[in-house]
Amino acid sequence: MAEATARPQLKSVWTAAEPLLDVRDLKVWFPIRAGLAQRTVAHVRAVDGVSLQVGQGETVGLVGESGCGKSTLGRAVLKLVEPTAGEVLYKGTSLHSRGGGAMRGLRREIAMIFQDPYASLDPRQTVGEIISEPLDIHHLYEGRTARRDRLAELLDLVGLNPRMAQRYPHEFSGGQRQRVGIARALAGEPSFIVCDEPVSALDVSIQAQIINLLEKLQQRLNLTYLFIAHDLSVVKHISNRIAVMYLGRIVEIAGSNELHRRPKHPYTASLLSAIPIPDPKIERHRQRIILTGDVPSPVNPPSGCRFRTRCFNAQDKCAQEDPPLDTVQLGDHQAACFFPVE
Ligand SMILES: Nc1ncnc2c1ncn2[C@@H]1O[C@H](COP(=O)(O)OP(=O)(O)O)[C@@H](O)[C@H]1O
Ligand SMILES: [Mg+2]
Repeated sequence: MAEATARPQLKSVWTAAEPLLDVRDLKVWFPIRAGLAQRTVAHVRAVDGVSLQVGQGETVGLVGESGCGKSTLGRAVLKLVEPTAGEVLYKGTSLHSRGGGAMRGLRREIAMIFQDPYASLDPRQTVGEIISEPLDIHHLYEGRTARRDRLAELLDLVGLNPRMAQRYPHEFSGGQRQRVGIARALAGEPSFIVCDEPVSALDVSIQAQIINLLEKLQQRLNLTYLFIAHDLSVVKHISNRIAVMYLGRIVEIAGSNELHRRPKHPYTASLLSAIPIPDPKIERHRQRIILTGDVPSPVNPPSGCRFRTRCFNAQDKCAQEDPPLDTVQLGDHQAACFFPVE
């Protein structure tokens, strides 16, 4: 097997007892410009004060409706967007501090798997070229044989036949294309992968295969995942912990089973009530919580608690005060709510 070139050493001393990823009060605001002078008139507060730690080897699920800021948070972790405030630490090193050596090492350590394998693969490149590109960018394998061996190894890891390297993305099924996307993400030997809705575009029958593959790879390669989905049922089994996002904030975080059994935030309760129960007898009596109104604009979030305009438990206090995430604190279960669900 080919030998990878040595990974640049990180500057700080980090131990696995500390979080691998430490997001601290992160804000990512996008300016809205108007007029001839293109002056900034307002901001889309895509991520608006998020703190989140992910431990080595852990999978943290990140769920919430479309537009709540999940991808922006994931992109900030990959340094694809700059934070407006706050910071992201990886192995104790800030991703956003200037400086050479440490950052070059970090670039390879964090990878992303995208939602849409159709859109994220260049149709003019062969699958082999797509997967090997990171090998070239990071100068990982010297010589054609070593490179070819590594490519075959990557294809094999994701359950594709190494002979498929000569083919083009359009010759593959949706599930196979996502396997290509995963192989490409693995090429730089990352430790941390942001999985941004990796199964949302796939048929339900294929979703489980891809999730199983991601779980298998996690064990084999000792990976850590931030697993984004808009649907709680997708992240239930793969996640150790789940964070629920609403309008740029985390409103609840808990162990996966705990969150499903004892949701505290009314928003989480409403998301859970929307999941059908496979047993028809129980399903018939399932109480659905129907949220009223639309998601407010992230340009002008409501005062106090951002969920209050759609909340069945909201009181006057909720319009006046913004509940911090530790308003409810039961062990490592936290919820940003003054009037939590019993
Ligand atoms: N590059 C951008 N410029 C301006 N607004 C953006 C940009 N990216 C995302 N947004 C806005 O930020 C909000 C959060 O988007 P996103 O992070 O993609 O949410 P999600 O992944 O949860 O669907 C949305 O209102 C979206 O329109
Ligand atoms: Mg998204």
